[in-house]
Amino acid sequence: FHLDIDAAETDKGVYPYYMLKEVDEQAIVTRTLSQYYFDDENNIQNIDTKIIDAMKAADRLYIVAAGTSYHAGLVGKRYFEQWAKIPTEVHISSEFAYDQPMLSQKPFFIFLSQSGETADSREVLDNITKQGYPTLTIANVMNSTLTREADFALPLLAGPEIAVASTKAYTAQISVEAILAHAIGHSELDLKLELAKVAVEMQVIIDQKEDFKAIAESALSGQRSAFYIGRGLDAAVAVEAALKLKEISYIQTEGFAAGELKHGTISLIEEGTPVFALLTQAKTAGLVRGEIAQVAARGANTIVIATKELAKAGDAYILPEVNELLMPLLEVIPAQLIAYYATLDRGLDVDRPRNLAKSVTVQ
Ligand code: G6P
Repeated sequence: FHLDIDAAETDKGVYPYYMLKEVDEQAIVTRTLSQYYFDDENNIQNIDTKIIDAMKAADRLYIVAAGTSYHAGLVGKRYFEQWAKIPTEVHISSEFAYDQPMLSQKPFFIFLSQSGETADSREVLDNITKQGYPTLTIANVMNSTLTREADFALPLLAGPEIAVASTKAYTAQISVEAILAHAIGHSELDLKLELAKVAVEMQVIIDQKEDFKAIAESALSGQRSAFYIGRGLDAAVAVEAALKLKEISYIQTEGFAAGELKHGTISLIEEGTPVFALLTQAKTAGLVRGEIAQVAARGANTIVIATKELAKAGDAYILPEVNELLMPLLEVIPAQLIAYYATLDRGLDVDRPRNLAKSVTVQ
């Protein structure tokens, strides 16, 4: 099984920007990953049993990454803890490199990267290799420095990602983390079936992209700042959603845990400030509804993106439902599309935001 990088894959084709093409490819990438990592009998394949054994022997997992890949780690932590039952920490590589936390007795390291070349992550891999701990890189570019230098490597199979703003690599990372955690643990879930449902629903959202154009234009036109809030997994996606919006549209956007609003950020809310709320986790939905009401009472323009089960009249977009732990794979897509259309609306170059590089090979 291998992925040919041919002209068709790196050509924008009918798309005005690579970002839109890459957002659109997410359902296909999810299916590709499922076919690669599961056989016809629903058994895991293409994950070396040495990886599984090394991870089972660990008392703690350390996910190390930068940018969007770090955000994918925040989601994956839940899978490793809830399905594989291994305590998991997620770290920013530029911090870990020079401020290494105290490690457990038997740590196992997972490096997440689209490019496999991020200098900050390479620095940590170097340090950890010298300390003799086992390492795995999950990357989109195989035969990159991070995949070559780690003990083990697993592919993301997302195909070339050209736009600076990472989209399909993020959802591919989340899928592979889920598959890996499932391979270690004994979750009752039929993950292959669940991922098939995810791919179908991803396509449903992608086919409704005009909805997000309308949301982006009405909520963000002329705005200088915005917020994304949520709790639990939705808080993890909120930081990625905020990064998407700020990095390409230059609208200053904060994403954070909704319960933190009252500890400071709520003072920033003014008449018309856009506050996007992600609502997919039943346990905390009531609390987040309260937080939405609090910002609305202070003048915020609240844009709620909720699952069918948790939706109320007036919500901006109703998400299709999949397994609750897999909802990040769906709820990030509206955020990607809102960022895309807000940036188009401003007449900016979606694929090449100022000051940013696709792969940061210096520290
Ligand atoms: C750069 C890119 C981001 C990416 C980050 C980490 O900042 O612009 O999109 O998330 O690097 O890159 P990696 O290739 O390690 O995932």
